[in-house]
Order: sequence, then C-alpha cells, then structure tokens
Amino acid sequence: MEKLKIAGGYPLEGTIKVSGAKNSAVALIPATILADSPVTIEGLPDISDVRTLKDLLEEIGGSVSLEDGDMSVDPSQMVSMPLPSGKVKKLRASYYLMGAMLGRFKKAVIGLPGGCHLGPRPIDQHIKGFEALGAEVTNEQGAIYLRADELKGARIYLDVVSVGATINIMLAAVRAKGRTIIENAAKEPEIIDVATLLSNMGAKIKGAGTDVIRIDGVDELHGCRHTIIPDRIEAGTFMILAAAVGKGVLVDNVIPLHMESVIAKLREMGVPVETNDDQIFIGRADKLKSVDVKTLVYPGFPTDLQQPFTTLLNRAEGSAVVTDTIYSARFKHIDELRRMNATIKVEGRSAIVNGPVQLQGAKVKASDLRAGAALVIAGLMAEGITEVTGLEHIDRGYSDLVAKLEGLGATIWREKMSVEEMEQMKS
Ligand code: EPU
Repeated sequence: MEKLKIAGGYPLEGTIKVSGAKNSAVALIPATILADSPVTIEGLPDISDVRTLKDLLEEIGGSVSLEDGDMSVDPSQMVSMPLPSGKVKKLRASYYLMGAMLGRFKKAVIGLPGGCHLGPRPIDQHIKGFEALGAEVTNEQGAIYLRADELKGARIYLDVVSVGATINIMLAAVRAKGRTIIENAAKEPEIIDVATLLSNMGAKIKGAGTDVIRIDGVDELHGCRHTIIPDRIEAGTFMILAAAVGKGVLVDNVIPLHMESVIAKLREMGVPVETNDDQIFIGRADKLKSVDVKTLVYPGFPTDLQQPFTTLLNRAEGSAVVTDTIYSARFKHIDELRRMNATIKVEGRSAIVNGPVQLQGAKVKASDLRAGAALVIAGLMAEGITEVTGLEHIDRGYSDLVAKLEGLGATIWREKMSVEEMEQMKS
C-alpha cells in the first residue's frame, strides 16, 4: 500500500491536461454489452474503475483490449453470467451492468454496488424503471435478480432526478419493444455522452440532456467508435486547485459550457477566469472573498466538487456556508481538514468554513474519492509536509494525478507505507 506525500506552500503554474470523464467511462463500458459487434471507446482515463469494468466484461465472455486509453470490446460471445459478488462490489457504477445485461439478455444477476460512502445511496428509481419496462426484480442476499420475458417501452417518471437511473433505464430501453419516455430525467453531460454512443450503435434516442428523453427500441445494435468527453469533475478539481495555489494555470481539454457553475463561483470569489474553445485559464488572486455554495443537479454546482471547494474556502476572507443537497454525509473530509488547522463546523447538510486560515501539513486519510482530491489540494496549500492515505479512492477516479501535478511544479510523490502504518489504518 502507498501513501501520497506533498510538500505544500509553493505556487504552481503551467498547463494541466484533463482526461476522459470517469462518470461517462463507467457507463460507456457497460453500454458496449448491448452491441452485437465490436465497439471502440477512445480516450478513457487511466483509473482503476475502468480496469475493474474491463475485468467484469471479460468475466461475462467479452474480448477486451485496452491500450493508451482506447478500449475495444467484442461483445459477440458475451453471456448473462451472474455477478453476485467479487469485482462488482468495487465500484458504484457496476449497477450499469444491470441495465445493459437486461437490455441484451433479458436477465441479469448483479451484486449490490460498492463505491464511495456518502450517506444512503438507494437505487429504487433504477428498479422502478426496470419494472416499468416489464422486468421482475428481486433482491436476494445482497444481489439484484432481473428477468423479463420481453421488455416493453413505458412512460417512466423519476421521483428523484438521478444520473444513474436515467442512464440505466436508457440502457435497458434501447433494445425494448416500442417507445420509452423518461420524464424528470437527469441532464448531466455524461448522459448525452452515453446517448451519443448508443445512437452511434444504432439506437433511437431523442432529448438526452433535457428532462424528457424519448427512446424508440430497436432489435439490434452494432459496433462503432466513440470518443469520450473530457472529465468536468477533474477539470473542476484542477480549476479549484489553481485558484488555491496557482499563479497562472491553464486547464486544457475541457468543455467550458460544462463548467459554468464553477466558473461563476470562482469569479464571485475574485478569481480571474478566462475561457476559450477547450481551455480555461485560472489567474492568481491575492485575496479571495468567501461565497456560499449549494450543490444541485446539473447545471447547478456539482456535489462532486463540494469537497475540493470547501478546501479552497479556507483561503477566503469571511464565513461561507457550503450545503450539499444531493448527499447527506459528504463531509468526511472536514475532520481531516480540521487536523490541518481549518476552522470548519458541520451543521446538518452544511459546512461553515471560517477563513482565511493557513493550513498546516498533517497526516490525513481520504475516506472517499473527492475527499481525496480535497486533501491533495489542502496539502498543496499547507505549510510543511502532508501525508494522504486512502489512495485506493483517489486511484478510482484521477488519472496520473502525481505526474500531472508535478507538471505544474508541485512537490508530490508516492511512498510505500510501513507495516506499522498499515496496521494503524486497520484500527
Ligand atoms: N437517488 C435515489 N434513488 C435512486 C437513485 C438516486 O434516491 O434510485 C438519490 C441519491 O441517493 C442521491 C441523488 O438521488 O441523493 C442523486 O443520485 P444519482 O443517482 O444522480 O447519483 P449516481 O448516479 O449514483 C452519479 C455519479 C456521482 C455523482 C452523482 C450526482 C457516477 C458513477 N456517479 O452517481 O459521482 O455524485 O451522480 O451527480 O456517475 C463521484 O464521481 O465522486 C461520484 C460520487
């Protein structure tokens, strides 16, 4: 096991390149199951979630190659192998295997998904959608059993705006008979990306990116090539990091339209932000103003950037209230920030950050993926050395993070943990 060490307090500058979107990748890869011939996805990030999904496709008989971020999947020999445990538990997005396998084979057995612990994360809306399409769904000993004689299009209203349920229902509906309408659908860019791949495979989908998606089922889907969109959460992480410790950072390979809420909040704080077609420049502001932030579904401020943003607010003057309306328990990074000298109080779904404070290096633990990103930014802001453990979370979602930050001049490196440190992690 390794830990990350960061010598903080130094300004960073230069260009940092964003990889392909994790939350698209984890849906695009299962979507390949729906085709009858090879699909190639270009530009995948080098993260453990992608490698885990590759292994899962191979477990069900897929022939998969992955080289320099390009994955080719031949799904022709796949079978609906039950996956009640094992690697499905490693990531939340394994739930997309349900929609994709149900769509292609009309049956699937998938263990309840893993992923970050952010409070309750039910999948009732996914199941509501599968049932509306005609599937019988049962939960037996921690695995979801899905079976349908035939999938038939249906009108499905989502009671909660859910990225996962919207994509999962799309995956099952593209090979159902007749028309499916998803109302109150999520509008995240990753949904458009998945719909684009499915359309290139021959699916008939209209309205992805709006809150009503219409799908006319087809009998067969064929192979194609698809290039993934840039990761707006990784881009946002770098923008926040640049606002915290940069003296001029260009974030490259980004769709500025996806970043509007983040750009607006940074500008409100006094951070100079310039955009062009596919880059965002973050300039240096000597003083930052505190701003309140409330996370919302897209195009609102993303919950996935709440934790990094909370870290940045430690540099700002005044008191800021950060409210997470999506997840009730996404504040596990706060205790760690406090160890680094932050003055933050958690009240219900809000964190109240009082700044400015000079963070101090400390030994901290990433409890989930974005908490990890928040602590790396804190380490870069802090005086002295910060040690971050829990790297398995960061490795699930950030590709080549150490090399990318070194490219901006950061002093950051991975080190093997001692046996004593690993024992301490268990307690
Ligand atoms: N919800 C329900 N019932 C459902 C589904 C969701 O009540 O059936 C609730 C959730 O508990 C949550 C809210 O609805 O409070 C939104 O959940 P959503 O389904 O949109 O989230 P998700 O699809 O499970 C994806 C991302 C998350 C990101 C959220 C919100 C993937 C694999 N994960 O999760 O990403 O936070 O959308 O934007 O796409 C991350 O990248 O760190 C991450 C956690």
